[in-house]
Amino acid sequence: MSEVVYSTSPSGEQFEIPGAAEYKKEYARLQRLVRKQRDQGREIVVVVGVGFVGAVMAAVVADSTDKKGRPGKFVIGMQRPSTRSYWKIPLLNRGLAPVQSEDPEVDVLIARCVNEKKTLTATFTYDALKLADVVVVDVQCDYLKQDLGDCCTGSADMVALEASMATIAENIPAKAMVLIETTVAPGTTEQIAYPIMKKIFEKRGIRSAPVLAHSYERVMPGRNYVSSIRDFWRVCSGVNATARKRVAKFLKEVLNTEDFPLTVLDRPIESETAKIIENSFRATILAFLDEWSLFSERNGVDLKKVIEAVKVRPTHSNMIFPGPGIGGYCLPKDGGLGVWAYKHIHGWEDDIFQITPLAIDINDTRALHVGTLVRDALRNMGQPIAAADILLMGASYREDVGDTRYSGSELIVRKLTEMGADIRVHDPYVKHWFEFKNQSVQVEHDGDFAPHSKAHFFNRQGHLENLEMEEDLLKSMKGVKAIILGVRHAEYLDLDPDKVVKAVGKPCAIIDCFCILNDDQIKRYFELGCEVKGMGRGHIQRLKEEARKKR
Ligand SMILES: NC(=O)c1ccc[n+]([C@@H]2O[C@H](COP(=O)([O-])OP(=O)(O)OC[C@H]3O[C@@H](n4cnc5c(N)ncnc54)[C@H](O)[C@@H]3O)[C@@H](O)[C@H]2O)c1
Repeated sequence: MSEVVYSTSPSGEQFEIPGAAEYKKEYARLQRLVRKQRDQGREIVVVVGVGFVGAVMAAVVADSTDKKGRPGKFVIGMQRPSTRSYWKIPLLNRGLAPVQSEDPEVDVLIARCVNEKKTLTATFTYDALKLADVVVVDVQCDYLKQDLGDCCTGSADMVALEASMATIAENIPAKAMVLIETTVAPGTTEQIAYPIMKKIFEKRGIRSAPVLAHSYERVMPGRNYVSSIRDFWRVCSGVNATARKRVAKFLKEVLNTEDFPLTVLDRPIESETAKIIENSFRATILAFLDEWSLFSERNGVDLKKVIEAVKVRPTHSNMIFPGPGIGGYCLPKDGGLGVWAYKHIHGWEDDIFQITPLAIDINDTRALHVGTLVRDALRNMGQPIAAADILLMGASYREDVGDTRYSGSELIVRKLTEMGADIRVHDPYVKHWFEFKNQSVQVEHDGDFAPHSKAHFFNRQGHLENLEMEEDLLKSMKGVKAIILGVRHAEYLDLDPDKVVKAVGKPCAIIDCFCILNDDQIKRYFELGCEVKGMGRGHIQRLKEEARKKR
């Protein structure tokens, strides 16, 4: 008898992975649904990969209406039944979002489409592709780094994406349009995906060319999650005139292109390059502030106030403080995909890229500095870092989301652990921190257990596999020697120093990595006998002296 395998949702609910017998039943269910939907004149859209992007994009498409206000699309969210991700399907089919965010519209939108409008369902079978008029590809394409702080030794993980494109070509009707939304190495749509699909079409006896297009996502999972997909400018292109026309028509039907006009570029490589440049630009301005952050710490400057002063100038308004490193799925990898494509897709041998990889390397290692700040703060309090209990507040890569991929916080935990500290972690949005839970899982080239964990770059990491997230913030503070404010989650912004010190039970070190504390809070911590340090916050020393004089 074969063993039952489960997939566990972030809330801990277990779902049995479907066995071979269930595929036939599932396809029959989809066929019945699709027949009914076609009778109502709806187009069938299959979204492959219902992760952070795909789940919400699927709902946005399912919620769209035609000119008469009637739903024009029926959406099937398709997700592989892997142990890590299968749970997303049963959750979606209950009308529940498989992603957590601060945007209340995510839950409402998914519930409305699944339960009321009945324009959205989710499935685990690739047979869904056979029913598609449009396929939207939202799977991931990772960039695998070999070294910490040297992205040039890494490579794009094309295996999963290539396999997805092959599966799609094997199953779709010849006329279906395939829209790649995945961020890919520039050149992928035309030089990798198209040839794969074309060859499979030929084997299937299909004479027409695949209708293949590219349009990248600019989604920001956070307070404006849904509108960052629906009400935002898009760029697209197709491999030929038909594909360009079809993709523009589709995006105009499902997104608010009236208020946010669509840009149609000549070739997919231009749309792909636009995405990589956008994110490399962002990564670069963040990396640029790393050296000024150190300058500020060492010379009595509060970088927070300096940035606010500079930003008043409209040409400089998008300058932001980098926090403890730049995480999230996109900024740490996208520039790498571009650098890799130059050699490995386009065949150039010289190294033209300097700034793009350097920015990623700086961002990838910025969090290591937190180890120094914690060490120094504890030393000022006469405490060693070894065996010190330390609470890290925030595991995700940015405020108000539960996405931990490549977060600076992971590096903080790993560095401090290597230095001998005992770490506790609290994050209101993260129940299981996968980069630790799965840190010993080998890279499976199936696109799922991506090697997000950075365990292999550090010593003494083994026991972190058992790292459990703290549930109660105040309780988790009890007895710690240091608290690290790692992420600007709403819950962490206005913490009262008196309450914090009371919860800890004694004065402790406070390390502010994200300009969370205002000057009054910093002074109060000093008055209470705490030590405070902060990334880019050199003025803290001044506040300390003021507080001392007051005492
Ligand atoms: N997360 C963001 O903020 C963001 C923003 C803009 C662009 N993007 C890009 O969008 C793409 C998707 O990112 P994401 O954050 O949604 O990733 P994700 O990991 O959350 O989601 C990808 C999903 O695809 C599934 N999947 C992988 N291979 C599959 C296959 N062969 N068949 C079916 N399902 C498969 C995975 O299990 C996962 O659920 C990436 O290229 C990313 O760079 C992401």
